[in-house]
Amino acid sequence: MYSPYQLAKKYLRFYRHAHNSKGHGVHSPFVYDFIENVKNSKEIPEQAGLIEAYRGQLLKDERLINVEDFGAGSHLTKGKERKVKDIAAASPKNKKFAQLLYRIARYYQCKNIIELGTSFGITTSYLASASSDNHVTTIEGSPVIAEIAQAFFDKAGYENISLIIDNFDDALPRLLSSKDKVDLLFIDGNHREEPTIRYFESFLPKVHNDTIFVFDDIHWSEEMERAWKTVSDHEAVTMTIDLFFIGLVFFKKEFVVKQHFSLRV
Ligand SMILES: C[S@@+](CC[C@H](N)C(=O)[O-])C[C@H]1O[C@@H](n2cnc3c(N)ncnc32)[C@H](O)[C@@H]1O
Repeated sequence: MYSPYQLAKKYLRFYRHAHNSKGHGVHSPFVYDFIENVKNSKEIPEQAGLIEAYRGQLLKDERLINVEDFGAGSHLTKGKERKVKDIAAASPKNKKFAQLLYRIARYYQCKNIIELGTSFGITTSYLASASSDNHVTTIEGSPVIAEIAQAFFDKAGYENISLIIDNFDDALPRLLSSKDKVDLLFIDGNHREEPTIRYFESFLPKVHNDTIFVFDDIHWSEEMERAWKTVSDHEAVTMTIDLFFIGLVFFKKEFVVKQHFSLRV
C-alpha cells in the first residue's frame, strides 16, 4: 500500500495527464456521453437521503465489533476489535463515487449486478436503488459487518439485494454457476494483485458486449497497479476509463482499437 505522500504524488501526476472534468479533447463519443450523462450528471436516487443518514449514524457508532482479517489469499486469520465508526470512515465508497456507481448502473440499465465486498452495504444500496427490477448480489466475509448491512437493507425495504456471507473464494464457484451473465461487477475487496486478477478471470465467461467491470483502488498499491495493467491489457477488454480511485472496464466489440482514458472526477 502506498503512503499518503506517495498517493498524493501519484494523484498529482494523474491530474496533470487526465482529461479535465468536462472531457475537453475526448474524441470517443461513448466516453463523451459517459462524461455528460453519467460522470457529471447530478442525478441521485430518492433513497440517497436515507442511505447518507445511515452512513452518518455509522460514523458516530462507537460499538466495538470483532472483524476478521482476510489477509493474504483471503484465508480468515485472527479476529480484531474495531469501532464501527472507524470502519465506516475507511471502507465504504464516499458519497461521490457511490452515487457515480448508482448512475452507471442506472444509465447502462445493468440488471444483474455483483459486488465483491459489501461492508455496511452503502454502495450496495445505491446500486439496488438504480432500478427496482435489477438484482444486486453482494458478498461479505465478516458476519458481524454483514449483519449490520442486512439490517439496513431490511429497514430500507430493499427486496432486490442478496447478501452472501462468505469468503469470496468459497462463495464464487456457486455464484458463478448460478449466473449466465453479469451486467455490472464491482470488485471492492481483497485489494491484492493475484486475487484481483483471479476474480477478473473468473467472471470473464459471464461477460457480454455491454458488461461493465469496476475495480476499486486501482492506484492504491504497486500490486493493484499491476493488477489494473493486467486487466487493461487483457484481449477481452476493449476500453478502460481510469478515474484514479476506481477503474472502469468495457468489453464492447465495436471498440475495434483498444483505448484507455484517464478522466478527472
Ligand atoms: C472496501 S470494503 C467494501 C465497501 C463497499 N463496497 C462500499 O462501497 O460500501 C471491503 C469489504 O470486503 C470484505 N472482504 C475483503 N476480502 C474479502 C474476502 N476475501 N472474502 C469476503 N469478504 C472480503 C471486507 O470484510 C470488507 O468489509
